[in-house]
Amino acid sequence: MLALQAKYGAERVTLSDIRPVPHPQAEASEFILCDAQDKDALDHLIERTQPSTVYMLVAMLSAKGESAPMAAWGLNMNPLLHTLEAARRGMVKHIFWPSSMAVFGPNAPKDLTPQETNLCPTTVYGVSKVSGELWCQYYHDKFGVDVRSIRYPGLIGFRSEPGGGTTDYAVEAFQAALEDRTLQCYLAPDERLPMMTMEDAVRGTLELMEAPAHNIRVRTSYNLQGCSFTPDELARAIQQTVPGFDMHCVPDARQDIAASWPNSLDDTEAQKDWGWRPKHDVQGLVAHILEGISPPVDG
Ligand code: SER
Repeated sequence: MLALQAKYGAERVTLSDIRPVPHPQAEASEFILCDAQDKDALDHLIERTQPSTVYMLVAMLSAKGESAPMAAWGLNMNPLLHTLEAARRGMVKHIFWPSSMAVFGPNAPKDLTPQETNLCPTTVYGVSKVSGELWCQYYHDKFGVDVRSIRYPGLIGFRSEPGGGTTDYAVEAFQAALEDRTLQCYLAPDERLPMMTMEDAVRGTLELMEAPAHNIRVRTSYNLQGCSFTPDELARAIQQTVPGFDMHCVPDARQDIAASWPNSLDDTEAQKDWGWRPKHDVQGLVAHILEGISPPVDG
């Protein structure tokens, strides 16, 4: 929202969600309440606002999806399909839809997981992302719909609360460090996952959407790598700035999900096709997030 408002002007951005967006800057743009699973409601919204680009971000993440597989399937697929249909009918010119490293399963190579490899996810979230990617490619190839997508690693931001993901521990770690709490981590201390700051993810998304259409050769979804670390490595990196930070690992079912995902992603295709370069390494990521969540110093 913030990046689109800054780039295009708040008056040219329309926000929509199933409930109001609790951010002061949201008020600068028009907001329309909509359940994106309701095709008529979404069609009506699109007819009324005539957007050139739709960023369809509705999703239920991996851990939460396992507790309600059918609800996750509906939420992750229906809004995408309604938007693709609207684009097929000429109501929308461009679509962005997020995919995830969760498309990979245990039979994909762990390190620098290639763009093209086995897609056998173990979660309903991963199943819906693989299916969604194929629908995107189908609508592009069959109807010429300009839909673009990124397979994000775990995203770490400081502007909104984490919700239902397997990678959320990394967001919670910073909050715990700030509040002088011990982090109860539900992953094994040596579970390596690819991660990225929200800032890098937003920049990459806008860069992908700005690239000329003929450069976009992957119409399923692009692998994107930021930096990779384990809970142990993250704790040690945070301790450089917050020496008292402590973490206690008690792995639960989310560890099984994490264990089925890559250690790192090969994003050569994104680099070649639209110039992707991550900004933050692990130390840079930690510094960026700690600075973002720290309360301003008076005086
Ligand atoms: N961050 C997501 C999750 O943990 C993966 O893309 O579910």
